[in-house]
Amino acid sequence: MQHLILGIESSCDDTSAAIIRNDVILSNVTAGQDVHRSFGGVVPELASRAHQQNIIPVIDTAIQKANIGKNQLSAIAFTQGPGLLGSLLVGTSFAKAFSLGLNIPLIEVDHLQAHILSHFIRNADRTNPVPAFPFLCLTVSGGHTQFVMIRDYFDMETIGQTIDDAAGEAFDKAAKIMGLPYPGGPMIDKLAQLGDPKRFTFSKPNIPGLNFSFSGLKTSFLYFLRDALKKDPEFIENNKHDLCASIQSTIVEMLMTKLAMAMESCPVLPDVAIAGGVSANSGLRKALEDARDQKGWNIFIPPLQYSTDNAAMIAVAGYFKFLKGEFSCQSATPYARAH
Ligand code: KG4
Ligand code: ZN
Repeated sequence: MQHLILGIESSCDDTSAAIIRNDVILSNVTAGQDVHRSFGGVVPELASRAHQQNIIPVIDTAIQKANIGKNQLSAIAFTQGPGLLGSLLVGTSFAKAFSLGLNIPLIEVDHLQAHILSHFIRNADRTNPVPAFPFLCLTVSGGHTQFVMIRDYFDMETIGQTIDDAAGEAFDKAAKIMGLPYPGGPMIDKLAQLGDPKRFTFSKPNIPGLNFSFSGLKTSFLYFLRDALKKDPEFIENNKHDLCASIQSTIVEMLMTKLAMAMESCPVLPDVAIAGGVSANSGLRKALEDARDQKGWNIFIPPLQYSTDNAAMIAVAGYFKFLKGEFSCQSATPYARAH
């Protein structure tokens, strides 16, 4: 049985649409929003307006690239939350109207669950391995940093999380302090390639258990640079590669230390995955590969196009809900915070 599902993602500043045939992606189209660049972060009102401009062309392109007609769609899956309410409303309203117009079911998807379920997207010949239940996932994005134990597609338990900033926020705020444009994570990653990760050290907080804290790191980075700039006003420019490499390796080390703890707390070593925008980070990907080689972990790293926000992950989550017959209704409302 073939099911064609349209996934729509609009939780933050990317408008994305994807078509999936069962668990194989046929198209995945994303329009970013440059409008936020000069503001150093996402401006919610501007994001909603840009989603309104982008959503129809993005969905139209996704349908064309998949080489299907809209009347062939079996269902429409949309991101219900968490995210920016105004942005979510654009995707939610469009999904509702389109499902009414086509008279097909509507499926609500949780953005964080979708990041994790992106690991179940199959390539065209379905030969790529997928994690075995139960597995552990480190979800690291701009808004969240958490350890999730996944027992089944929709049976997930958060076993640790940040008590303040997310890992992506730590990257973005460090970048902002250095005067780099938003989003800072990819830029730090790029500049870090040419830097020495051991050149500078920053204080790492000691948070018990499987929780994280990243706000102290931001402050330590800020004070370090404030003092250095007093002595050399060109300090950032002259050391930007080493600064980026050092802050990146500090964040990665914080994540990996807790990940090792989380793995050790499991009675049997589970498969381990990373998901979310920060899983695109080359330092984190390399650290996980090193752990695979040194500790024998069975690791899952998403392809880059499914790391940062995308609709393919919404479509695959929608597919699994479709199989369970879990449909949404026209009264579904978006939510801003994880629940
Ligand atoms: O999952 P995502 O696209 O959106 C949210 O759900 O938040 O994650 C966005 C976050 C941003 O903080 C961005 O700076 C970070 O992911 N990010 C990266 C990289 N690519 C995206 N951080 C570090 N290195 C990267 N290569
Ligand atoms: Zn995300």
